[in-house]
Amino acid sequence: MGSNLQGKVTIVTGAASGIGRGAAIVFAANGAKVVVADINEEGGKKTVEEIRSRGGTAIWVRTDVSSAADAKNCVAKAVGEFGRLDCLFSNAGFNPTGTVVDTTEELWDRLIDVNLKGMFLMCKYSIPEMKKAGKGSIVCTASVDGVLAIRNEAAYIASKGGIISLVKAMALDHALENIRVNCILPGAIRTALYEKFIQENPGIEDQAKEHPMNRIGEPEEVAEVAMFLLSDVPTFVTGAIIPVDGGYSAAKT
Ligand SMILES: NC(=O)c1ccc[n+]([C@@H]2O[C@H](COP(=O)([O-])OP(=O)(O)OC[C@H]3O[C@@H](n4cnc5c(N)ncnc54)[C@H](O)[C@@H]3O)[C@@H](O)[C@H]2O)c1
Repeated sequence: MGSNLQGKVTIVTGAASGIGRGAAIVFAANGAKVVVADINEEGGKKTVEEIRSRGGTAIWVRTDVSSAADAKNCVAKAVGEFGRLDCLFSNAGFNPTGTVVDTTEELWDRLIDVNLKGMFLMCKYSIPEMKKAGKGSIVCTASVDGVLAIRNEAAYIASKGGIISLVKAMALDHALENIRVNCILPGAIRTALYEKFIQENPGIEDQAKEHPMNRIGEPEEVAEVAMFLLSDVPTFVTGAIIPVDGGYSAAKT
């Protein structure tokens, strides 16, 4: 039994870009039947095309994770197409800058709706299907920022801290149902979100130096860890909060 997702029906949110896109491709290459979920239709369909062009299996389901109707529909489409749901990589999110003073109430609400409520909704509708299947595995993407604050990202940091607590709660609630729930904390990863962060915060271009490995990470490096956690290999791992950060959080503490 290897760290693969052979035959596993797996929803990936935020799969039109960055870590989610990388994960969808890696999961499919390792046998998963992938449901590509995102608000970005063009990017999402490109991910599906890429997977199919490599001989993998994927479908596109437009999903705004902050919408209960969309989250429910995404899970229903996964089960309708593939007959079951085994895994969820709940990863969609965005990263605006600002202190609490700069952050408008509207932006706060949208951020919490997408980054935190989106995790709640995707898990809320996925877990009952995993129970029907007799087991399941969920990985949520938080951030090292969820445990180590940086300046000028107050709302984002709050949303990521919330995800960590939610993962622990779900791990306990569903442990006896054979559903494992784990959390990954990426450091700086080369994606559109990261490029935007660098543009909006002049003077902190050299994020590589913040990471003891003296480089930033690649989406596929995050995907491999998520795949391990989703797979049947780590059968005694649930409620774990795992940095994927080239040593960033070890150095800060
Ligand atoms: N890149 C990094 O350095 C980094 C570091 C720590 C954590 N993260 C986290 O990783 C996750 C993925 O980020 P990324 O770096 O790949 O960013 P990205 O911008 O490349 O991809 C994010 C994807 O999420 C989608 N998305 C946004 N709002 C959505 C919604 N309401 N419903 C569905 N999809 C939505 C976007 O369309 C996009 O395709 C995020 O949760 C982010 O907070 C990223």
